[in-house]
Amino acid sequence: MTASAPTSTRPGANMVDGEFAFTEADFRRISAMVHGDAGIHLPDAKATLVYSRLAKRLRALGLTSFKDYCALVSAVEGVDERQKMLAALTTNVTRFFREPHHFEHLKEKVLPPLLDAARRGGKVRIWSAACSSGQEPFSVAMTILSLMPEAPDRDIKILATDIDPNMVAEGRSGTYAAHLLDGVPDNYRKRWTSSVAGGEVRMADELRALVTFNELNLIGDWPMKGSFDAIFCRNVAIYFEDDTQARLWSRFAPLNKVGGTLYIGHSERIQGAAVDLYKPDGVTTYRRVAEAAR
Ligand SMILES: C[S@@+](CC[C@H](N)C(=O)[O-])C[C@H]1O[C@@H](n2cnc3c(N)ncnc32)[C@H](O)[C@@H]1O
Repeated sequence: MTASAPTSTRPGANMVDGEFAFTEADFRRISAMVHGDAGIHLPDAKATLVYSRLAKRLRALGLTSFKDYCALVSAVEGVDERQKMLAALTTNVTRFFREPHHFEHLKEKVLPPLLDAARRGGKVRIWSAACSSGQEPFSVAMTILSLMPEAPDRDIKILATDIDPNMVAEGRSGTYAAHLLDGVPDNYRKRWTSSVAGGEVRMADELRALVTFNELNLIGDWPMKGSFDAIFCRNVAIYFEDDTQARLWSRFAPLNKVGGTLYIGHSERIQGAAVDLYKPDGVTTYRRVAEAAR
């Protein structure tokens, strides 16, 4: 049976008509868990989406109600399923060279001086925060290689992180269905990808050498010590409430070199205390400024 829109807002009544009982109380418990674990805000309008994404999990587990599912993911023994719930409720949409103006800005304004410094022994650090399945960091890597083919022999590294272990594993595999390469310019595709079995395409070793994938929750602790020349944090803050977004931008500032760049998603904006630390430098592109320059 397909799920239909919320029919009631009473705690004990079904929120979505479908195969499994799904009350407002169930929805509130799931939203609270996802908010606590990942900072993701699920408004009531997402009830149908929550139902349809998690109904598959209930079927796989042989459960008959969301009440039982909530009990499982709240319990110590449900820790693995809780991770699966989170993965099912995150939106992982991404593509190579998404929001292409960021990669033009990176190529024309940001990378040339950084790569010159790298040729003289300097280091370059770029972070793709909430990288999904890796198309964003690999687009950064292609942009670097297009300017500096010897980049893997220099001290140049791209850190790619996401909360979803499945996405991190996909990125680490560096292999994609051929149709996902649509946004990659032909000359880049010829130089740095190769076809493998099953109609898939593999990122070249030079690209993979530049990118390191790790799990990281943006609302948790960050183990990184160094600072980044550029941070990409795109299309994830939209799932957070304003105060969580403001905290996130403020946490990036100390990790972003003064003069470095922060790229954010097309419908996002810097807010909170960080507005004084970032100066617009293009569409959804910001330059980190020193506190004294305020
Ligand atoms: C829509 S994708 C954006 C991917 C890429 N940045 C882009 O713009 O194409 C959002 C990603 O954010 C991740 N995400 C959601 N909440 C997160 C959190 N608290 N910490 C880290 N990653 C998170 C999801 O797993 C998902 O892969």
